[in-house]
Amino acid sequence: MAQIIDGKAFAADVRQKVKKYVNRIKETHGITPGLAVVLVGEDPASQVYVRNKGKQTLEVGMNSFEHKLDKTCSEEVLLSLINDLNLDPNVHGILCQLPLPDHMNENLVINSISPEKDVEGFHISNGGLLSTGQSSMVPCTPLGCLLLLRNHLGDLTGKSAVVVGRSNIVGKPMASLLLKDSCTVTIAHSRTMNITEVCSKADILVAAVGRPEMIKGDWIKPGATVIDVGINRIPAPEKEENKTRIVGDVHFESCERVAGGITPVPGGVGPMTIACLLANTVTAFCREKGLEPPSEITV
Ligand code: GUN
Repeated sequence: MAQIIDGKAFAADVRQKVKKYVNRIKETHGITPGLAVVLVGEDPASQVYVRNKGKQTLEVGMNSFEHKLDKTCSEEVLLSLINDLNLDPNVHGILCQLPLPDHMNENLVINSISPEKDVEGFHISNGGLLSTGQSSMVPCTPLGCLLLLRNHLGDLTGKSAVVVGRSNIVGKPMASLLLKDSCTVTIAHSRTMNITEVCSKADILVAAVGRPEMIKGDWIKPGATVIDVGINRIPAPEKEENKTRIVGDVHFESCERVAGGITPVPGGVGPMTIACLLANTVTAFCREKGLEPPSEITV
């Protein structure tokens, strides 16, 4: 049976390190790092995410600035707010919750965030820096996966890694990070032929396709490390009528019997995303002040 990779505990450990570092910054520089979160509209899932981000930002001792705009507000108003945050010396990180309303151009908005304050690493310039192996702000979820992998396996050099999923937010940056750590990397996706065979070669398998329980136990190389990024809500009639439950992109029960290590859903990658957002805010602060960011929470 695979060892369960406890992302919840590891994320708490990352937050603890961030908190310690934030305290040190406050003592030595008399400044409190700050994270601004922008939410446009009232999407219920986005409201939950934003609330959790704000709460955890305060818990590590940083300032949290929440900006809520009406879903009918113009793109110009949003761009003007982002411009103000770019110039605000109390704001070291900026996050704009997605999705944005249909009348807004998501790429334009994301690329209006100052790259140095882009703590989610979505700006085109951070994407370019990461893919060319240069220091950048790194997207939070792939960063969380990498920290879990390093913690579980140690040095990743020479390992065969398969990333299932090619999104700009997870799949592509994950592949860049694994390549930087000297893995042999394959990106597979919904159109990959013989995907079962491709996955069966992986020492490290990262699943980020958004298809509930797609990856089965007989796809997995015995002893492989399986990282499940998926968060899918599916019907759970076994619980009660109209009830749902959350599953990953990996069929946990069958994969757990074959893998060497596996992240559960929930409690695996999920909690790492916000922990890495906080870590990135500290990194952004350090870079602005010319300080060395703490090595255990940066790449
Ligand atoms: N919407 C859903 N997840 C995320 C996230 O991690 N960041 C942003 N900005 N928007 C999201």
